[in-house]
Amino acid sequence: MINPKVHALLNTQINKEFYSAYLYLSFSNYFEEAGLDGFANWYRIQAQEERDHALLFYTYLQNEDMKVTLEAIDKPDGEFESHMAVLEAGLAHERYVTSLINEIYGAAYDVRDFRTMQFLDWFVKEQGEEETNATDLITKMKLFGSDPKSLYMLNQELAARVYTAPSLVL
Ligand code: FEO
Repeated sequence: MINPKVHALLNTQINKEFYSAYLYLSFSNYFEEAGLDGFANWYRIQAQEERDHALLFYTYLQNEDMKVTLEAIDKPDGEFESHMAVLEAGLAHERYVTSLINEIYGAAYDVRDFRTMQFLDWFVKEQGEEETNATDLITKMKLFGSDPKSLYMLNQELAARVYTAPSLVL
């Protein structure tokens, strides 16, 4: 049995991860409309990864014989002033998700739920990588975003991203 508070946080995280997928799909849509298909590809794959994260939380609860409750997913705020504003919203969101993972980890730690802590270890590492990726994108956009030729090259680089399934298997 998972402690009720930890259970509730894990269940909420399913929704948060699906929201993340939806948010990144809205970013992908923004860049598709802007004609930057490489950026659109990058965020579409990011959306797929977030869906995977949601399913990992879902599967973990099911494997632990805990009830899963699926809630409504919020509508992402789809208005952006610039390409950079999208990238910055991505970094801010990843930092927020890191705080959520840390909160669940802390709750599991408080009740000595070592199994949940071990499950969350993968997400702790993943969040570090996702914050780094978001920061790198902002750095590249600052360096190359104002020159059309450089932006074209950056778009080509992001077009090369391919989906890979998560390394964590439950
Ligand atoms: Fe699933 Fe980007 O956090």
